[in-house]
Amino acid sequence: MITLRPSALLLLLLGLLTAPLPRSAADPGDELCLTRLSESLQDPGRRLFNWSKANFADPCGGFASYLPGTTCNNGRIYKLSLSGFGLRGTIPANLANCTSLQALDLSANALTGPIPPDLQGLVNLAVLNLSSNRLSGQIPAQLALCAYLNVIDLHNNLLSGPIPQQLGLLVRLSAFDVSNNRLEGQIPGSLSNRTGNLPRFNASSFEGNKGLFGYPLAPMKSKGLSVLAIVGIGLGSGLASLVLSFTGVCIWLRATERKMAMEEGKISQLMPDY
Ligand SMILES: *[C@@H]1O[C@H](CO)[C@@H](O)[C@H](O)[C@H]1NC(C)=O
Ligand SMILES: *[C@@H]1O[C@H](CO)[C@@H](O)[C@H](O)[C@H]1NC(C)=O
Ligand SMILES: *[C@@H]1O[C@H](CO)[C@@H](O)[C@H](O)[C@H]1NC(C)=O
Ligand SMILES: *[C@@H]1O[C@H](CO)[C@@H](O)[C@H](O)[C@H]1NC(C)=O
Ligand SMILES: *[C@@H]1O[C@H](CO)[C@@H](O)[C@H](O)[C@H]1NC(C)=O
Repeated sequence: MITLRPSALLLLLLGLLTAPLPRSAADPGDELCLTRLSESLQDPGRRLFNWSKANFADPCGGFASYLPGTTCNNGRIYKLSLSGFGLRGTIPANLANCTSLQALDLSANALTGPIPPDLQGLVNLAVLNLSSNRLSGQIPAQLALCAYLNVIDLHNNLLSGPIPQQLGLLVRLSAFDVSNNRLEGQIPGSLSNRTGNLPRFNASSFEGNKGLFGYPLAPMKSKGLSVLAIVGIGLGSGLASLVLSFTGVCIWLRATERKMAMEEGKISQLMPDY
């Protein structure tokens, strides 16, 4: 049995702590993720300079360590922030291969197409901001598998369908915004009326979706519109019938006037001259 003196143990520990970390080779997942992303994006503003295949091989090391919008930690990309870059195109499923990603911000671009359900592979993701794009399709319920999500901001898009009630399972969620989309159906109580100390999301998170209803949206909203419509129709038809009857009366008056004039003429013809 080997016994170590305390001082030797200390030395050994110190040695372990101060030894240089092995320079991690480029991660094949990050490389695939960036390659697919650059293939599916169009960059008319040329903001993604240095986003070239040669630099994707080792995005966090060496010369190519500066790729605009990316931030590295421990040799892996942990933040991707391309907000307001004027980008077009779609979000590729392989974005999920950036498995160390904690923050994904593609907001304020002109991205189209769906939010890939594959993003469920981003198990470390805390911030998802895809707001102010032209994303369509449904909100994938699979996002509920990204257990660390703090922020889901999808406002100002063309998303449709219901809000997945599974998103209410995200206990760390502190910001949720799906306003100004084309979502429909009942707002899940798992988000609007959460139990315990979980933050509840108010109407500002949900407004601007014509087909969405239920608490916390004001119940009178759609009814108020139809009441206005009824009043409008009533006023409109009232005015129309008024105009019609006025015209009718005018025509009748004219006709009788003419008739009377003619009759007068006849009478004057019949009348003997004095
Ligand atoms: C990319 O992700 C997919 C799905 O999780 C996985 O099957 C594949 O092995 C990954 N590829 C790399 C290079 O990491
Ligand atoms: C772009 O990458 C090249 C190496 O490929 C590097 O020399 C240059 O400094 C990079 N540009 C910026 C702005 O980081
Ligand atoms: C998402 O990004 C937009 C800017 O593009 C910003 O205004 C908004 O505050 C962000 N959302 C959150 C929850 O931080
Ligand atoms: C919120 O949930 C509680 C039960 O958990 C229920 O009694 C209450 O009616 C709900 N409020 C709304 C506005 O749905
Ligand atoms: C709704 O929630 C947001 C934060 O999520 C807050 O800034 C805003 O003041 C709230 N509005 C109301 C009417 O409570």
